[in-house]
Amino acid sequence: MMLKERIAIVTAAGSGIGRAAAQIMSANGAHVVVTDLSPAGAAETVEEIRRQGGKAEALGLNVADGDAVNKLLSDVRQRHGRIDILHNHAGIQVAGELEQITTEQFDRSWAINVRAQFEACRAVAPIMREQGGGVILNTASNAGVFLDKGMLAYITTKSAVITMTKQIALDYARHNIRVNALCPGWIDTPFNAPYTQQLGGRPALENVVANMVPMGRFGRPEEVAEAVLFLVSDRSSFITGHALVVDGGECLAGGVNSTP
Ligand SMILES: NC(=O)c1ccc[n+]([C@@H]2O[C@H](COP(=O)([O-])OP(=O)(O)OC[C@H]3O[C@@H](n4cnc5c(N)ncnc54)[C@H](O)[C@@H]3O)[C@@H](O)[C@H]2O)c1
Repeated sequence: MMLKERIAIVTAAGSGIGRAAAQIMSANGAHVVVTDLSPAGAAETVEEIRRQGGKAEALGLNVADGDAVNKLLSDVRQRHGRIDILHNHAGIQVAGELEQITTEQFDRSWAINVRAQFEACRAVAPIMREQGGGVILNTASNAGVFLDKGMLAYITTKSAVITMTKQIALDYARHNIRVNALCPGWIDTPFNAPYTQQLGGRPALENVVANMVPMGRFGRPEEVAEAVLFLVSDRSSFITGHALVVDGGECLAGGVNSTP
């Protein structure tokens, strides 16, 4: 049990990759605080975890609400005495080139993809420092390591997540707080639903993925969860400030025209 007795918080864990991350953490012994904008989604994840014999609790959380993020972290600390793992997974994708994106859309991308992670990292840092260490994992995207046509807000915010992660890692390494970024590629979750619709349906999306990804297929949330487990456990005890790409080789091919 790699994460025995550890207290973990995962945002956006009511679906997709966040759910798989919460599940693998609990399967490895962590008590997982499963949070999501959708309380029903969070509750479903917890139900599945409990069915597998794991320990978890569900809480509604909109990461765009900085006060709520701060309060949740402080409540969890009070109830459990510590926070060992924080996985900031929530993110949104606003598509469009420079002239197609409104200021409001750009601000919203920034608020959810970057500022919310900043708020959560800032709130958890003193808790982890006082307890002698901890692990933070910030979800970015492989779209944070290359450019992509028509994806200005997403590319800008996801690359900012990677840079912010590296800088926090540098500043907090001496406190035994490791901070890494997770960079998934095309993973088969509801996250890709708007793009599927834009393309005209699932077969068109599968065609895009088959062409873009050298491995020729979507990744599964469970495959990304293995990378999450590595980064939040002691298996990666000497790794900090790293952006781990999990994308079936897409970034090797340059990534232009892809959108996860
Ligand atoms: N699926 C992919 O192909 C892919 C690729 C690269 C990066 N990502 C990143 O992974 C994250 C989510 O992807 P997923 O595939 O797990 O998506 P998903 O659609 O399966 O789940 C997203 C979850 O986020 C929650 N959510 C949305 N807004 C929120 C908010 N403001 N506060 C809290 N929760 C909120 C939703 O309720 C939902 O449960 C994003 O950060 C995204 O950029 C996904």
